Amino acid sequence: MEMKDNMKKKLKLKVSAIKDGTVIDHIPAKSLFKVISILGLDQIENQITFGTNLDSAKLGGKAIIKVTGKFFEDNEINKIALIAPHAKLNIIRDYEVVEKKIVETPEKIRGIVKCFNPKCITNNETITTCFKVISDEPIALKCRYCEKITTEDQIRMV
Ligand code: CTP
Ligand code: ZN
Repeated sequence: MEMKDNMKKKLKLKVSAIKDGTVIDHIPAKSLFKVISILGLDQIENQITFGTNLDSAKLGGKAIIKVTGKFFEDNEINKIALIAPHAKLNIIRDYEVVEKKIVETPEKIRGIVKCFNPKCITNNETITTCFKVISDEPIALKCRYCEKITTEDQIRMV
């Protein structure tokens, strides 16, 4: 028997719809808590709901975060490019998706990741790391201080 459309929608909506705010969808499940921390969602007072290990053909387990009353700046959102490059943002106003945005890898990354080189000054003194993104798929970051390259599989968060 054909499933009615509203039934399909309900099955899809495992985390309640929100009235106004931002839905960050298509986050790899393993990166959920890193995204929460990078966006500082553990520090804000807004209502937040999330779901993880939801079915996704593409990601094999995805996570979704819904933040009520929060509309991010592009530069804030782009910080998650390193760990959730295929995340999609949905801007919700009065229950409707009014805009969809994709994450873009920034040209420079300040903080967030550690330099791979143990001898780098950023690993030995309290200096914020800074990298130039020299490739985005796969990610390669060139350290501003020691000029060594940190590749995707070497990335560790600060
Ligand atoms: N959403 C929400 N609250 C609303 C409207 C939408 O939480 N008031 C969520 C939906 O649950 C979905 C996302 O926002 O996770 C995008 O909504 P929509 O564009 O309707 O879904 P899809 O067509 O499945 O989007 P896409 O294929 O781009 O992921
Ligand atoms: Zn370095």
